[in-house]
Amino acid sequence: MPTADLDGVSIFYHDEGQGEPLLLVHGFPLSSDLYQAQRAALSRRFRVITPDLRGMGRSDPQPGYSMDTYADDLVALLDRLGVGQAIVGGMSMGGYVVFALLRRRPDRVRGLILIDTKAAADTEEGRQGRYKMIDQARSEGATAIADAMLPKMLTEPTRDQQPELAEFVHGMMAATPVDGITGALESMTLRPDSTSMLAAIEVPTLIIVGNEDQVTPVAVAQEMHKAIPNSELVIIDGAAHAATLERPAAVNEAIEEWANQLT
Ligand code: MLT
Repeated sequence: MPTADLDGVSIFYHDEGQGEPLLLVHGFPLSSDLYQAQRAALSRRFRVITPDLRGMGRSDPQPGYSMDTYADDLVALLDRLGVGQAIVGGMSMGGYVVFALLRRRPDRVRGLILIDTKAAADTEEGRQGRYKMIDQARSEGATAIADAMLPKMLTEPTRDQQPELAEFVHGMMAATPVDGITGALESMTLRPDSTSMLAAIEVPTLIIVGNEDQVTPVAVAQEMHKAIPNSELVIIDGAAHAATLERPAAVNEAIEEWANQLT
């Protein structure tokens, strides 16, 4: 599998299929494996590019974490791959990175897909929770973080009925380097509020949310939909935060149908 050396930082990525480029950015503390089903199905029509953010998956845990740095890594990867503009999608923290990319390089974004994410910055309470998680990651390791996050990622019926999927998601999180976890948590506490950008987003935007997502609930997605002029909202039944893995067929269909209107 390819890695790109971007200014001394090794970034792992998948690049599959041909056609319109579709860059999909994973959330915390996940990896490009979040999009395995999208790669399989959507690469029939798109050039699907799914990187591991620095410090997660198989990319270097290189210090210098911030939403802007993650976004700059992605722009450098697009440059390396010879991609000018792409449809850019992000799940949860991946969405925060996509907002940073849109702020910095709107010329590279042909369309937006916001998956189980939100525009608001952390509340003070949210920040305090992240500082506790940083301490926990340092003292107990990534497995403790994976244990805490798994119930948010998949609904309880899915965890019961598809233990192999639950194990897959848990394993992905537990494999994240502690430095990558703490760097991501800290950069999430520092990210700016993107709410005021929403009304000015000019590109077509698809918003996807699991109907049982507790981290970024349906009401938050509905607010973004109201604020972004050229947006569509698709609510995925029977999905929590990791809708791309829990209900892959519904997510793929939503993306394909929306993208059909773009071309
Ligand atoms: C994620 O899935 O990326 C995180 O849950 C996002 C967050 O904690 O804000």
